[in-house]
Amino acid sequence: MAASTSHALIQRRNRSIFSALASFFALFLCVFLLRKRVLDGDLSSYSDLVSRRGSSEVSKKSDDLENPNSGSKPSDPEENADEWKGRLSSESENSAYIASELGIDPDVWKSKFIERTTQPSESTDGEKTEYSVEKAFSADTADNVAIIDKLFLQKLMNCEFYRGKWIIDDSYPLYTPGSCPYVDEAYDCQNNGRPDSGYLKWRWKPDECDLPRFDAVDFLVRLRGKRLLLVGDSMNRNQFESLLCLLREGLPDKSRMKEIHGYNITKGRGYYVFKFEDYDCTVEFIRSHFLVREGIRINAQGNSNPTLSIDRIDKTANRWLRADILVFNTGHWWTHGKTSRGKNYYKEGDYVYPHFDAVEAYRKAMTTWANWIKDNMSSDKLVFYRGYSSAHFRGGDWDSGGTCKGEEGPVSQGAMILDNYPQKMTILEEIIKKTNAPVVLLNITGLTNYRKDGHPSVYGKNVTGLKKVSARRQDCSHWCLPGVPDSWNELIYATLVIRQT
Ligand SMILES: *[C@@H]1O[C@H](CO)[C@@H](O)[C@H](O)[C@H]1NC(C)=O
Ligand SMILES: *[C@@H]1O[C@H](CO)[C@@H](O)[C@H](O)[C@H]1NC(C)=O
Ligand SMILES: *[C@@H]1O[C@H](CO)[C@@H](O)[C@H](O)[C@H]1NC(C)=O
Ligand SMILES: *[C@@H]1O[C@H](CO)[C@@H](O)[C@H](O)[C@H]1NC(C)=O
Repeated sequence: MAASTSHALIQRRNRSIFSALASFFALFLCVFLLRKRVLDGDLSSYSDLVSRRGSSEVSKKSDDLENPNSGSKPSDPEENADEWKGRLSSESENSAYIASELGIDPDVWKSKFIERTTQPSESTDGEKTEYSVEKAFSADTADNVAIIDKLFLQKLMNCEFYRGKWIIDDSYPLYTPGSCPYVDEAYDCQNNGRPDSGYLKWRWKPDECDLPRFDAVDFLVRLRGKRLLLVGDSMNRNQFESLLCLLREGLPDKSRMKEIHGYNITKGRGYYVFKFEDYDCTVEFIRSHFLVREGIRINAQGNSNPTLSIDRIDKTANRWLRADILVFNTGHWWTHGKTSRGKNYYKEGDYVYPHFDAVEAYRKAMTTWANWIKDNMSSDKLVFYRGYSSAHFRGGDWDSGGTCKGEEGPVSQGAMILDNYPQKMTILEEIIKKTNAPVVLLNITGLTNYRKDGHPSVYGKNVTGLKKVSARRQDCSHWCLPGVPDSWNELIYATLVIRQT
């Protein structure tokens, strides 16, 4: 882990240099993505390099990149002169330090990376940003690429992924709506007749960095010989289907990916194993609503009632052991309705509590889970917990006429909305900390808060043709695919890039 060691070193000695690197970033990203092509001598021009990212705001012509003022929205050097002078000098000071950390001759470093021009760009909410364009980058040598790779990684490692915003990216979605056979009807909104398509175009952009663009082939290479398993409720099935579709894009021959039992994905079944023949890896899903053990109790009248053993791990846990990368979630089932109102339901040892507080039950269950992870997951495994995904029911709840139909865009990004971080998440964070369980939190609650436009609403069923649409029961908690869960998998990919370098 040379990169992370040097990262730690740099971080300890001087955190501030990372902020100085901020303006390099947009370009590094492009380079990172095109690394292989560059090394193969396959990079034809700057325009190639920049337009790959898909941002239509960035100039498309190579002349534009060499001459920032030839674009349609020239930057105003006068206006920004002071700011730039300040930034340049602080970056120059830091550059010697960065160069020495990276083991590069400082003069070489300066000659290659200090001189820059900028490209103006405007995001959807009218905020002006600048893309930094490195003049010296024209060298295109393997050495440069390696250096920029290192910097890209350091930037990524230091980036807070979950503070950011959604921006429109014309290169999205990452797979064509209706093209992926693993999207079940409940999430197949375009095929089901959803008329608008703007919701497909949003990309999550952390404030401090760009996420690496999802590279299915690279993801599969990183997964070679391994098993990736999602464990949880239907929201995790939603994410599972997204991941299958994203990875499928990396296969020239789509038939090289198969559910090993021949199952199609349906609501009813709780276990799937998709094998990618060419990479000897699998992507699997196991349904487990609570992560702890559901059971049955026969009461005095001879009726069977459900119970939940909050002190015992779910019985599917023996299968969790075989996975290398795991993504857990639970949360949506911890409601009164689905837990028998806490009456004769929660169980510890052999004792079934007549009444038990749901929050306390959740805390105990998550502690059981975290302890299991700590005891049973060796350090070569990577364990994620995917945080609570926000729902957007207007004027009611899921079972009382709440709606989200007709939402065509995210919540406006200036206004900080629904900023009520769920208590379940706060509890989970406390437990992870207290037990010291090796868990990476995919903290997607905040980013899903914005996306009131991403749910199936009435388009969780095929409403084309003559069928009348019932607007009474709308799905405003799961997500259309392509859509929001794709970004959760982009975050997993970014984590793999950081971890496996
Ligand atoms: C799965 O779906 C395909 C296409 O709809 C169908 O041809 C096939 O019979 C289904 N397989 C199973 C096991 O249900
Ligand atoms: C670790 O896993 C084993 C086998 O599933 C189980 O018996 C043990 O209780 C687990 N540890 C914890 C702390 O749950
Ligand atoms: C997760 O995100 C929420 C905002 O949505 C924030 O309040 C919380 O502190 C974050 N947790 C971690 C561990 O970063
Ligand atoms: C939805 O219904 C229409 C009309 O009945 C049909 O043409 C279309 O194939 C259906 N789509 C799916 C995904 O079943």
